[in-house]
Amino acid sequence: MITKTLEITKKKKRISNTRKFSIISYGCQMNVSDSEVVASILEGIGYTYSNDLNESDLILLNTCSIREKAEITVRKKLETINAIKKNKKNLKVGVLGCMAERLKEKFLIEEKIVDLVVGPDAYRDIPNLLKEIEFGNDAVNVLLSKEETYADINPSRFNTNGINAFVSITRGCDNMCTFCIVPFTRGRERSRDPKTILSEINNLVKNGYKEVTLLGQNVDSYLWYGGGLKKDFNKASEIQRKTSINFAMLLEIVAKNFKNTRIRFTTSNPQDIDKEVLETMAKYENICNHIHLPVQSGSDEILKKMNRKHTVEEYRELVKKIKKILPDCGISQDMITGFPNETEDDHLNTLKLMDYVKYDFGFMFKYSERPGTLAAKKFEDNIPESVKQRRLSEIINLQLKHSYQNLFNYRGKKVKVLIEKESKKSSEHWCGRNPQNIMVVFPKGKLKIGQYADVTILDNTSTTLIGQII
Ligand code: SAH
Ligand code: F3S
Repeated sequence: MITKTLEITKKKKRISNTRKFSIISYGCQMNVSDSEVVASILEGIGYTYSNDLNESDLILLNTCSIREKAEITVRKKLETINAIKKNKKNLKVGVLGCMAERLKEKFLIEEKIVDLVVGPDAYRDIPNLLKEIEFGNDAVNVLLSKEETYADINPSRFNTNGINAFVSITRGCDNMCTFCIVPFTRGRERSRDPKTILSEINNLVKNGYKEVTLLGQNVDSYLWYGGGLKKDFNKASEIQRKTSINFAMLLEIVAKNFKNTRIRFTTSNPQDIDKEVLETMAKYENICNHIHLPVQSGSDEILKKMNRKHTVEEYRELVKKIKKILPDCGISQDMITGFPNETEDDHLNTLKLMDYVKYDFGFMFKYSERPGTLAAKKFEDNIPESVKQRRLSEIINLQLKHSYQNLFNYRGKKVKVLIEKESKKSSEHWCGRNPQNIMVVFPKGKLKIGQYADVTILDNTSTTLIGQII
């Protein structure tokens, strides 16, 4: 998932005398999606959104713990918010999401930094917790759930361009990659009722949205058998198992029901994406041919220590299969450099795998030890910072080279772009993505946001295609 900071804004008439809230989301798309659920819950008890922290009565930070740097960013923001609080005694500040789950009461009780601490599965409890604050009590709920998917809550869309929306389909993760904090902060994996997924998409489509991205830490592992944890599937009744719905089936239902809507999904774990999913993608034109396929390392030794559940060879075979079934499919990656004991040979194997796949783009990170993870317990974080940095630079440079080459190959070709927004650099250009998830910029012509454009590619950088409407 893409990690970026998003200050959520909402274009809605301000109603005076109501309490106002702001939410700032950090980290992955799932947090953006969760913030929309929280906003819906708060609006249900009479709050209205404000993008001005100074006029808010309640400021919430939806936080990320994936790397130490992400947590430092949140702490810095809390400092500026606490400066506002000094002059505004009634202001309440809350921490939501993964940092809330990881640090629990520490924030509220020990550090006295915030009023409210709510983990990813406890957002329905926010109205009660706000009352507790008014009574002068602590307001912490970090319970993880076996069932919660917020299935029935219609998210309140913020900062929306009215075109693209995220729809969560699974929560939690059972993969236990040794470096990763997510299984600890988001709990065990569970899937959302397909009926509620379809009704959410139906609402979006009715409201003019043109593209939905199905979200999960591990979307291909989606399995609906009437509710409950993925790991308990084997304990389900025979009828539940026989009538269960897997990801390929869900994808097909969504694609069939919303033929004029672009469908994307993220993230795919290599061991879970199967032929059935690829064939479904091939069958429906409205499913975008892009797979985000994090591999983390090109070394079998390291993959094993990371508890990734496949070998490099199996990954290569999968890429081969993708390219055979979906010849024009975009593939992107996540990589980690400097995992404990990573040798120069391991690193070279990562570069070698990248040379084999030639990803379109990727998200690359230095290993950041997370307290409580298996890797933190078992291995010493023993790769010097300078080595991690050098390896990271080598990986990034190689990726830039591949990205440039792949995008160069689009020159002279026609691509279909869904117009999403104005180009940041020029008010005379539109910006949108092709099915492979590559940004395309072109002169506006007579088209509008939300329409499709057939664009001939004339030029490129390593991140953007530049063209003109046919
Ligand atoms: N399956 C999830 C992964 C979430 S974390 C998804 O939906 O994308 C996103 C990426 O962060 C991972 O793929 C990994 O490359 C990186 N990451 C996770 N833990 C990390 C750590 N401890 N240090 C550095 N990078 C990490
Ligand atoms: Fe993390 Fe691995 Fe799950 S990276 S989110 S434990 S697939």
